[in-house]
Amino acid sequence: MSMRLSRRKTLGLLAAAPLAMSPAAARPLAALGPAAARAGLIYGASASRALFDDAAYRTLYLRHCRAITSDVDLKFDWLRPHGPARWEWGPADRLVAFAERTGMAFRGHALIWNENPPGWLKRLSLAEIRRVFDEHIDTVVGRYAGRVAVWDVVNEPFWPGHGRPGGYRDGPWLAAFGPSYVARALKRARAADPKAVLAVNEAHCERDDAVGRAIRKGMRRLVDGLLEAGAPLDALGFQGHLQPQLPYDDARFAGFLHELGAKVGRLDITELDVNDESFPDDVKRRDALVARRYRDFLTHVLRVKQVRAVINWQLADHYSWYAGLARNGELRTRRPPRPLPFDAAYQPKPAFGALLAAFEARSRKPEPGNRKGANR
Ligand code: G3I
Repeated sequence: MSMRLSRRKTLGLLAAAPLAMSPAAARPLAALGPAAARAGLIYGASASRALFDDAAYRTLYLRHCRAITSDVDLKFDWLRPHGPARWEWGPADRLVAFAERTGMAFRGHALIWNENPPGWLKRLSLAEIRRVFDEHIDTVVGRYAGRVAVWDVVNEPFWPGHGRPGGYRDGPWLAAFGPSYVARALKRARAADPKAVLAVNEAHCERDDAVGRAIRKGMRRLVDGLLEAGAPLDALGFQGHLQPQLPYDDARFAGFLHELGAKVGRLDITELDVNDESFPDDVKRRDALVARRYRDFLTHVLRVKQVRAVINWQLADHYSWYAGLARNGELRTRRPPRPLPFDAAYQPKPAFGALLAAFEARSRKPEPGNRKGANR
């Protein structure tokens, strides 16, 4: 064995060591959902048609998840791809019914998002867009009223790169109403389903760079404005698509969560995964680094007592959105990404051990309280 190889191997073992020795990693067949519940958390994953097409994948959800988020099926462009009058309800109906049948809490994602507007929407006048906005919320939230535990009412309100005042993400809804579209969406959603928990879901707040800081600033202002205006904001979602090639300060992000948790009362990690494109090719080393990123993030975030849910964005690597990006050449490597707790053979990876260990650590602590009510 060459010097180089043995050094790489040593580094890999070192990276894996804290997890390999943890009691959680020694019991890889434990289920994540119950472990999370013991820590006052709900654990789940996003899902799309693979849940129905792939029985082995479905088994993973049934074993580990107590919540399901719609990955694409409830998005505007998937519900209404062809025009204002034609609705494609089938896939969303099937997902909501699955959650109901299996006793999983359903998170509706995403009601209003300025990204991916279908062509027909972009061609409407602003007055028509305003009508479609109201009609869309009334129709979609009304259809599933009483069956959706949490709605991501507004997804990703901020993207400073668009250069709009206040750092708002540009798109048809911002153009039609200005930033007040957020409060309007929350109010209409509340009227259509008085019982659903209503959330604003945001990306990139975890990053400790100019983008992350700008979006955190925007979120602080937005939350204060919504609460002052009496808008029905029950929860905030933080996606947690971790990008280890960027700077992070998990303790600072947890401080931000503390601050917002004191105002809003419920915070969820809604789309957790780890982009491994900057990690080495060697699968063992890569998996250990991904797991370490999960561990470091969750160690800080789960100390915040208002954090109530941890949701992965899909469950197994080959169904991750990163797999699609890699296939399309949109990552710096074309190798199959490994961002999730299970591999393409549905086997638990070190990331699984990191999740389990983080849940177990929180359940051993007297604080945070929140032991009850992890069921929505
Ligand atoms: O299913 C079609 C397939 O039939 C077609 O051949 C192929 C050609 O491109 O496209 C497939 O659809 C893609 C779909 O993902 C598959 O699930 C769409 O092009 C693609 O745009 C779509 O991307 C989704 C993206 O949101 C945009 O809606 C991802 O799956 C989904 O995971 C991602 O989720 C977002 C969250 O909503 C918000 N936060 C970030 C997160 C990741 O980007």
